Amino acid sequence: MRPLATGETIVIASHNPGKVREIAALLEPLGFSVVSAGELGLPEPVEDGATFTDNALIKARAAASASGRVALADDSGLCVAALDGAPGIHSARWGGPEKDFARAMRLVEEELQAKGAVTPEQRRAHFACALALAWPDGAAETFTGEVHGRLVWPPRGEKGFGYDPVFVPDGHDITFGEMEPEKKHAMSHRARAFAKLLDALRAAKDGS
Ligand code: IMP
Repeated sequence: MRPLATGETIVIASHNPGKVREIAALLEPLGFSVVSAGELGLPEPVEDGATFTDNALIKARAAASASGRVALADDSGLCVAALDGAPGIHSARWGGPEKDFARAMRLVEEELQAKGAVTPEQRRAHFACALALAWPDGAAETFTGEVHGRLVWPPRGEKGFGYDPVFVPDGHDITFGEMEPEKKHAMSHRARAFAKLLDALRAAKDGS
């Protein structure tokens, strides 16, 4: 990866203040300054990639070229094996305009039922996260993380968001919705992708 200077400003290519705060808390201890695409008034590009990585790259490159700074974007979602990877990159869209994830979880369950997927093995799923770090000239680095498990019904737990109440990670009996957030954050797809990014950033700062 290209070297990055201490104090370098990284643009977070997100208009979601919660996400920006979370990412800033990871990058600032490494000595980077953080500003969001929202604060800079950057336009949101159309996410028409075919994969999580494509969409993260589209967002990071758009923010980097518009701001003239290094930019970081993420994209994530739930992939259900029996549904050929759906909802996948459309995970947010399955919540509808109201971002109603009770509805999105029900839709996933209806499709699983239609396929006769009843055993834990037939109900395998994973969360995926892709991160892209892009430079204004279009150069980029990407990092991915996944957490695998199975889907249960009905939804359980109020602690998470999105599809958390129906996802039980491998090696556990409780859903992400029932799990303490610190525990989820230590094993999640996002945590795994960020661990790889932070390793690369540390190395880039040392000039290696
Ligand atoms: P985006 O990456 O912000 O576009 O979000 C994609 C969608 O995937 C979210 O709206 C959630 O529905 C779903 N998703 C991503 N990560 C998680 C997670 O950790 N738990 C539950 N749902 C998630």
